[in-house]
Amino acid sequence: MIREFNEINLAFRNSFHVEQSARRLIEFETEEELMSLFERETFTRWMVLSGGNNVLFTQDYDGVILCPVSQLIEPIVETTDEVVVRVGAGVEWDDLVAWAVERGLWGLENLSLIPGKVGAAPVQNIGAYGAEAKDVIRRVRFYDVEQRTMRNLLREECCFGYRESIFKQELKGKAVITEVEIVLSKHENPRLGYGDVEREVERLGGATLSNIREAICSIRCSKLPDTAVLGNAGSFFKNPVVQRAVAEQLLATYPDMPHYPAAEQQCVKLAAGWLIDRSGLKGYREGAVGVHERQALVLVNHGGATGSEVIALARKVQAEVKQKFGVEIDTEVNIL
Ligand code: EPU
Repeated sequence: MIREFNEINLAFRNSFHVEQSARRLIEFETEEELMSLFERETFTRWMVLSGGNNVLFTQDYDGVILCPVSQLIEPIVETTDEVVVRVGAGVEWDDLVAWAVERGLWGLENLSLIPGKVGAAPVQNIGAYGAEAKDVIRRVRFYDVEQRTMRNLLREECCFGYRESIFKQELKGKAVITEVEIVLSKHENPRLGYGDVEREVERLGGATLSNIREAICSIRCSKLPDTAVLGNAGSFFKNPVVQRAVAEQLLATYPDMPHYPAAEQQCVKLAAGWLIDRSGLKGYREGAVGVHERQALVLVNHGGATGSEVIALARKVQAEVKQKFGVEIDTEVNIL
């Protein structure tokens, strides 16, 4: 079903809870409905808003916001090893993770409790605790607004990288994702190598699928603010990837600096949260906005903040990290 709203307040449709509005917002369920919208009229300015978990509105949106609401979760192929599942873009990501874990299917458990909807997962290749959406995505289906047709891209064609995909690059502003096909495994495959996961799983009694989900949920809840209580968009910054030589120089001064292998050879990924923390900004507050007191990568709205206030703090954080460590940190959040 298509539902249309005019002059709509977006405060409850963005996890930062900033008070901005949109001229029009249209919810759609099926791809036929989506195509009919583009056939019916020409949208001069439009965007897709999924869960609103990775966006910061700095002004009212003078255009049409499209929201997928399809709740489809449908297994389509089952072998002795795997189950392939079609999932609608409007499904809450964590509902999909819960669905898989309840059925004993492996692959999504490390991505438990990531806020947002399934349609947004491939866009920035969401990731946590040693897993990324690209590990399970087999195919992404979307409406190509320029070619006016439905298209499919296989995983290899999506140009996935760290918080990257073709949907943030050449297909930016041209694609509306309607469905994602996921491959889940029937075989045990615990991935416990990241941070506190192994310790927490042991405490719960061992590496079962449900224990891993529970461990990840409890680690996330202990570090990351609940958007229902404190507006935020998860990590506001990406972890910076620097040349190996730069990392080595920093490590000589800060031997405890966390660092990880990067996809690019000769490069190392640093922890932006640590850099911000060590710049003395963890828990720092400027009016209604602040750096979260338990995870410095997250900026929070203590109540009534505007998008511009959040940006001002973000710029300050970037400048201080640059000054102290000589490292540039880029924003992960989509700023509008
Ligand atoms: N750290 C600090 N102080 C802080 C934050 C982090 O010292 O305030 C240190 C930690 O102790 C650790 C290192 O920095 O040694 C990395 O921290 P953490 O394990 O919390 O992960 P992260 O690199 O800060 C990334 C993702 C998160 C994801 C976690 C867990 C990005 C931008 N963020 O954060 O994703 O949940 O790993 O895998 O890659 C998100 O994208 O919204 C998100 C929350």
